[in-house]
Amino acid sequence: MDKLVIEGGLPLEGEVPVSGAKNAALALMAATLIAGGKHRLDHVPRLRDIRTMELLLEHMGAVCHHNDHLVIDTGNIHCLEAPYDLVKTMRASVMVLGPMVARFRRARVSLPGGCAIGARPINLHLKGLEQLGVGIELDHGYVVAKADRLRGAVIPFDQVTVTGTENLMMAATLAEGVTVLRNAAREPEVVALAEYLRRMGAQIRGEGTSEIVIEGVKELVPASFRVIPDRIEAGTYLVAAGITGGNLKVTGCRPEHLDAVMGKLELAGMTFQVSGDSIQATGTGQIRSINLKTWPFPGFPTDMQAQFMALMCLGNGVSLITEQIFENRFMHVLELKRLGADIELDGRSAVVKGVRGLSGAPVMATDLRASASLVLAGLAAEGITEVNRIYHLDRGYEAIEKKLSAVGARIWRERGV
Ligand code: EPU
Repeated sequence: MDKLVIEGGLPLEGEVPVSGAKNAALALMAATLIAGGKHRLDHVPRLRDIRTMELLLEHMGAVCHHNDHLVIDTGNIHCLEAPYDLVKTMRASVMVLGPMVARFRRARVSLPGGCAIGARPINLHLKGLEQLGVGIELDHGYVVAKADRLRGAVIPFDQVTVTGTENLMMAATLAEGVTVLRNAAREPEVVALAEYLRRMGAQIRGEGTSEIVIEGVKELVPASFRVIPDRIEAGTYLVAAGITGGNLKVTGCRPEHLDAVMGKLELAGMTFQVSGDSIQATGTGQIRSINLKTWPFPGFPTDMQAQFMALMCLGNGVSLITEQIFENRFMHVLELKRLGADIELDGRSAVVKGVRGLSGAPVMATDLRASASLVLAGLAAEGITEVNRIYHLDRGYEAIEKKLSAVGARIWRERGV
């Protein structure tokens, strides 16, 4: 298995370009199923999760060509099933449920199991579909969804769910009448999906607020769309500047998607200059310990919690970090401790006492953002850090070692057997 080797201690300087957003691209790819024909997506990152979604769409009969851009032809879908083998490697596969039910009125999708960051049920996706008139049964580990017709409904979510909002927004585009999603997710990825569906002919308003209204139409047509920049990748590179006391210009991003992240990093002692689509991030070398709670957008994202914790490991005092979205998203804690961090877990909170320095060691992580936090810690640690199991990083960070090398990091990939 491949690993990343990092020789830490160098301040990073230069420009880092941001790739297209994984989580936006995955939803857009699922959405191509709603309208049969050729769709074109630009700025799709080259990532393992994207390849998994391509494999899933191909399994269903779509034809995918991924060169400079991604063309997906969904004109000949002949299999309405998302098999266990693909869903178990990527939970986002459940996002094909809404589009398939919308267009074909039936679908069979493997139930995702537990995951490294929490139980992550899909009960709210299924309850919402039932409210649209879809019959749901569980059969040998699969969700079997069937409907004669889909009827618009008022759907209040008990909890904010990103892919749940996306799945139901997609299903409702072809329902009869009006659907109102209340307590909807406001993430930029949801907004991008709404824009794409509108290009296909859907009638949607309110995206970006907690109430999304969808007026069903009879049919959608294929469309083109450019994937929004990855705010989590951008945020990870902002922290890279802070943790190394460096100076990075993060380019091709949407600074307004990073307000909460920049706000917290400023309190932690970093400075930012925003100009158009780039952010100049400067780490002063003095890291202030501050408290953090994760929230749905526009709050501080759970997908940046692990990276922020890496920074707090080197803070000047004590930081209390509370994870409010997932119940088990602290898999990075024991690994950060192997690098010399002082962290105590207390339920959904971590108490991080800043230390003077971290020291390199072999580490590994069981999820994507946890792995990113180990890379960041490794960039700041004295000596050599080996990050193992980097297939997690390859799921969500395009060319991470190339981008970091280009700004002065000593980091390289070693191929395993
Ligand atoms: N939840 C339920 N029932 C549901 C759906 C969600 O109880 O039916 C709970 C979850 O267990 C969790 C909370 O609601 O406690 C929020 O989960 P959400 O549904 O919003 O998460 P998701 O849609 O499965 C997406 C991203 C995640 C990101 C979260 C939160 C995609 C493909 N994934 O997941 O991204 O952490 O939203 O922002 O969009 C990552 O990129 O590393 C990643 C994990």
